[in-house]
Amino acid sequence: MPEEDKEGKQFHQEVPATCEGFFLKGSNSLDWGIKNRLARIFNPESGRTVMLAVDHGYFQGPTTGLERIDLNILPIAPFADTLMLTRGILRSTVPPTYNKGIVLRASGGPSILKELSHEGLAVDMEEAIRLNVSALAVQVFIGGEFESQSVLNMTRLVDMGMRYGIPTLAVTAVGKDMARDARYFRLACRMCAELGAHYVKTYYVPQGFDTVTASCPVPIVMAGGKKLPELEALTMCHRAVQEGAAGVDMGRNIFQSANPKAMIQAVTKIVHELLPPAQAYELYQDLRAGA
Ligand code: R5P
Repeated sequence: MPEEDKEGKQFHQEVPATCEGFFLKGSNSLDWGIKNRLARIFNPESGRTVMLAVDHGYFQGPTTGLERIDLNILPIAPFADTLMLTRGILRSTVPPTYNKGIVLRASGGPSILKELSHEGLAVDMEEAIRLNVSALAVQVFIGGEFESQSVLNMTRLVDMGMRYGIPTLAVTAVGKDMARDARYFRLACRMCAELGAHYVKTYYVPQGFDTVTASCPVPIVMAGGKKLPELEALTMCHRAVQEGAAGVDMGRNIFQSANPKAMIQAVTKIVHELLPPAQAYELYQDLRAGA
């Protein structure tokens, strides 16, 4: 027999039930499962994330630094909050004991030899569930040749993901000849958010990045872009989070660094603790020397 319900103080009638908001911008109206997945990507204490992006092979093949993900990336993966990668690398190379968030690349098609904006969705929702991923990532080419197709890839992924509580990360991809300025990124990020993306990845711009984050109603994470000298990359990270980014999704500036393990730790200190760039660079050098 179950224990009898007893009248007593353990009901705490004097304590109102809590009704907390969710810590991520624009995410409060989402369901429990999708919030739980977002909380595996973004650290609920800092509200930010360090995503380690290693999905470049999906259109570039074995790019510099990613020739052997087992040797180059797995040793530094524990320092990231989340790995962003393809299902091929996840299954073949990442041990299932890895228990942090996985953001799965869900679009693809063309290689670097062809028109990159001509992508389609390249992962089924059942596969995403089977792999227990925390989010799906899709490239959106605003202003690109196949702009509408890429936007509709994103909206379709949002619709499918909403059925099962899987968030969508929209990645703003910029064509070679297009201006990379705040006006462009305001347009691209806002379109992605308006059409349903749960968070958006975009590039840092030195002028007006704060207007990009302010006008986007969901979190923005900063893409690293081409390899920069370490101090410059750390300074860019610091500026991005100071100007409203909810973290970074960096690849080459970490895995192509002279010391990726030291670099990811310095980036983490900036993102979660807002360590000033000069101190983060000092940390990078100390860790590098210690190694
Ligand atoms: C590129 O298309 C991939 O989505 C990468 O994840 C992205 O570019 C971020 O990597 P990186 O910091 O090297 O630019």
